Amino acid sequence: MKIEKPRGTRDFLPDDIEKRREIERIMRKIAESYGYREVLTPTFEHLDLFTIKSGESIIEEIYAFKDKSGRDLALRPELTAPVMRLYVNECMGIPKPIRFYYFANCFRYERPQKGRYREFWQFGVELIGSSSYLADVEVIELAYRIMDELKLSFEMHVGHVGLLRHVLRDLSEDRANKIMRLIDKRDLDALDRYLDGDLRDKIHSLVDMVGKSDVLEDAKKIIPNFNFDHLERVCRALDDLEVDYKVNLGIARGLEYYTGVVFEAYAEGLGAQNQICGGGSYRLSHLFGGDDVPATGFALGFDRIAEICDLDSKKPVRVVVVSFRGLEVEALKIADAIRSKAVVVTDVMERSVKKQLSYANDISADYAVIVGEKELKEGKIAVKDLKTKEQRITSLEEFLETLG
Ligand code: HAM
Repeated sequence: MKIEKPRGTRDFLPDDIEKRREIERIMRKIAESYGYREVLTPTFEHLDLFTIKSGESIIEEIYAFKDKSGRDLALRPELTAPVMRLYVNECMGIPKPIRFYYFANCFRYERPQKGRYREFWQFGVELIGSSSYLADVEVIELAYRIMDELKLSFEMHVGHVGLLRHVLRDLSEDRANKIMRLIDKRDLDALDRYLDGDLRDKIHSLVDMVGKSDVLEDAKKIIPNFNFDHLERVCRALDDLEVDYKVNLGIARGLEYYTGVVFEAYAEGLGAQNQICGGGSYRLSHLFGGDDVPATGFALGFDRIAEICDLDSKKPVRVVVVSFRGLEVEALKIADAIRSKAVVVTDVMERSVKKQLSYANDISADYAVIVGEKELKEGKIAVKDLKTKEQRITSLEEFLETLG
């Protein structure tokens, strides 16, 4: 019986992994340069961690199960709640602000399609301990710098959930949450069934407010009682830091823990699932038994980014050491010496020299080093450049020098 991989999951071959590792390396390097340090939480958590606040939609999308002792557990659908649980369990006493980053797989029971998987990876950060506009500026700038360094074509949109929440403040929490979800999904028809009159008009105009920071002036006229100071300071700082973004007052975010500035990035070339980054400021710690600490962060959709990212990464030189019968162990010694400069593979199938050379071509090696009786006696090796097909007799030292 042939067994397929589960729906919504993927296998990654070496070419995919090499590209993904390179992207991951760049993300880590930039996050670390801002003082973020990596944390790792368990792949599964108590189900409660996600149902307390993450929103109704996430319950339906969660891989939840009982273990053999009847505990309700879930595969993590995201890492903000786990990182805040970690903060409450281990780090409440350490000096703030705390800067954590993570790179890990997440699981959501969603309908798979291009760019939407049931197992996917997030690279994210959480900045814990500050409600200042500077904290929002830092994480938005960091997300922007990572995507910019990866040379992605994207648009960063910045908004504030407080504004939509302010307009919906007289509704029950349940109803307001439902409306926020419809706004997040841009399901405006359904929205109109829930809203009417002045409320509907205000929500419609906010959802349409996308543009340069002058949209804030329009928004102030519609929602005069809302304090725009925080968002304005964020926008001014981003302008000064030359972070390119649009104000988008219709960003509602799918998860319900956000309290303030929120942001999303959308990329070209992905079709419907074009959101490659989501984040914002939130409060979760008090729900997990900790202090009511403010936090802000984001997660990048690693798989979507890998799909559109074009890196011209340098491949290492590949050498195949080919040996005549009886000289296999000599070949292994020579291979060990070359490994300081190149990727080296040797024959493990006791094949003929001809077949070893043919395999070297099959795997697109750069050089074949041929270990023969005559050359060995003279302290030499034969080196064949597999691109030009030229072969020469040289010393191991000289060959190593040519490898740089
Ligand atoms: P999120 O927007 O749900 O936010 O997810 C972040 C990113 O993960 C999305 O922008 C998207 O690129 C990617 N993503 C989500 N679901 C899938 C999927 N099924 N397949 C592939 N990629 C997917 C969060 O998870 C928040 N925890 C972000 C955050 C951190 N907020 C504050 N701190």
